[in-house]
Amino acid sequence: MYELASLEVKDCQRCDLWKTRTQIVNGSGNLRAAVMFTGEAPGKMEDLRGIGFQGQAGKLFDAILSHLGLTRQTIWLNNAVRCRPLAGRKNRPPRTEEVTACRPWLIQDTENIGPRVMVTMGRIAYESVSGRDDFQAKRGTIVQSSVGPTLFPLFHPAYLIYRRSARLVMCHDLQKLGHYLDEMGIEREKHADRENIFCVP
Ligand code: URA
Repeated sequence: MYELASLEVKDCQRCDLWKTRTQIVNGSGNLRAAVMFTGEAPGKMEDLRGIGFQGQAGKLFDAILSHLGLTRQTIWLNNAVRCRPLAGRKNRPPRTEEVTACRPWLIQDTENIGPRVMVTMGRIAYESVSGRDDFQAKRGTIVQSSVGPTLFPLFHPAYLIYRRSARLVMCHDLQKLGHYLDEMGIEREKHADRENIFCVP
């Protein structure tokens, strides 16, 4: 069985983001997780705390987990890029070369954890894992991949902060994902305990 330490990237300089990071934001969660969630890249709070999805996007991410009957203790969470991309003092999306440089760590997590389903959040995570450029067409569907687990692309939680209409799309996608997890026999909490902020118009 793998130890958490073997999944921790400790001193990476594969791209220039090491120059401005506070720390590498490694994956976190359950080393035996059946479901892996992959986001884009750390922002300010993640860079300071060393854990993915804090702040406002983190609240929406937790709501996604709750809707599915999952928790941060039952899944594995990581990002396509492990160091904060900065433009001046602000966050920016990671560049293609940064995503490419960080991909081996993402693949390493996939191989070591061995999830059965990989939920990618946003276009960048989907493209990094799948090598495809059809996020719009595939969002909310099951996608076979060469990395091992089946993929289920979702919108990125931050995309939902100001776009209320996208929450209904997320509601639909999460219902579909939930059915798929049940079909796969992946354990999740009963419906009564779950939060649901997406399906209310
Ligand atoms: N957005 C991401 O994609 N990942 C994080 O960890 C935080 C915000």
